[in-house]
Amino acid sequence: MKSEWRGLAAALLVFCAVTFLSTKTHAQVLRDSLAPTPPMGWNSWNKFACNVNEDLIKSVADSIATNGMKEAGYEYVVIDDCWQIKRDENGNIVADSQRFPSGIPALAEYVHSKGLKFGVYSDAGSKTCAGRPGSQGHEFQDALQYARWGVDYLKYDWCNTATRNAQEAYQTMSTALLSTGRPMVFSLCEWGTAKPWLWGKGIGNLWRTTGDISDKWSSMKKWEDGSCCEYGMVDILDQQVGLNAFAGPGHWNDPDMLEVGNGGMTIPEYRAHFGFWALLAAPLIAGNDVRSMSPEIKEILTNTEVIAVNQDKLGRAGQRIKKEGDLEVWSKTLADGSRAVILFNRGANEAELRVAWEEIGYPAHLVAKVRDLWAHQDLGFSTGSFSAKVASHSVVMVKVAP
Ligand code: GLA
Repeated sequence: MKSEWRGLAAALLVFCAVTFLSTKTHAQVLRDSLAPTPPMGWNSWNKFACNVNEDLIKSVADSIATNGMKEAGYEYVVIDDCWQIKRDENGNIVADSQRFPSGIPALAEYVHSKGLKFGVYSDAGSKTCAGRPGSQGHEFQDALQYARWGVDYLKYDWCNTATRNAQEAYQTMSTALLSTGRPMVFSLCEWGTAKPWLWGKGIGNLWRTTGDISDKWSSMKKWEDGSCCEYGMVDILDQQVGLNAFAGPGHWNDPDMLEVGNGGMTIPEYRAHFGFWALLAAPLIAGNDVRSMSPEIKEILTNTEVIAVNQDKLGRAGQRIKKEGDLEVWSKTLADGSRAVILFNRGANEAELRVAWEEIGYPAHLVAKVRDLWAHQDLGFSTGSFSAKVASHSVVMVKVAP
């Protein structure tokens, strides 16, 4: 080959490589831009499972729009499994017309009319976990349909995927969603089996890190097919240790949806659950019946000081910095240099917990203002450390600001 041709071929190769790389970067940037802070919203599964219908979704949207949740930041109203029933002769996904007689586009429009966004659920396999049609082989067709319907969020599950490769499956649907031109947040529900935190950035906006949450403080139950598992809240929390570095603006670890208000935990336990999800920079997807919650539950879900920790622009996930038996300290660095700190007592008796400034990256001589985010109270200035008595199965959550 003449040297000028070789030069041209090399230039072409470099051009193609740069174009390929920048296209990938462009898609990743686009994907990340859909969730600069952890998504907030509501999903039907934890409370209603398969019992979904358009009246339920509409009344939930009505409540979120008027009960203070929308003002607090809740945005996405997501129907989980069981809205779909079959495919038509052209392979298009069809909603259950008994449960959704007005159709999905009308429901999306209703949710939008409340100033909220609308989400649906599908699965990377042949069938969803509840046995409804999955999206395998129909990814682009489904994504287009969602875009036509006005969908803003897709939760994408992992049942009935046989030997499918998880990264390939989620990348395919991610590309399909982006190629519609409609912004749709993409929620990967792979249960952490293929470690989605290692490859999910640029593919999804959030990825489940564990099996399903259950409305219990602590438990572990195998799924019906013998695979693992359904967990209590603290068992899920334990599995978040070490994952903080993988989260950041646009791509978040998802320790599963909230159980706050579903009745299986005490109020202090639900405060711990919500406080930890905020500190972990986890998506805050309520999963209770928001139409009829008690004032205490509403206060937890709409605690704007705790939500501000979650929605902090720096997008850093919190981490465990100390564990001594049942007593733990967790910390999250915030954009203004302050720290959100949780003193956590998972034991049976009240205990005194202490966080030293050096454990959260401050010099010992520093004077910092401490504010209790559940009591909404300034606790004054502390030098070197902060201590508090923490009741059993409870947290004290403070903001430490130099
Ligand atoms: C799986 C998911 C749950 C829920 C159900 C629906 O178990 O992990 O969050 O979506 O499927 O069938």
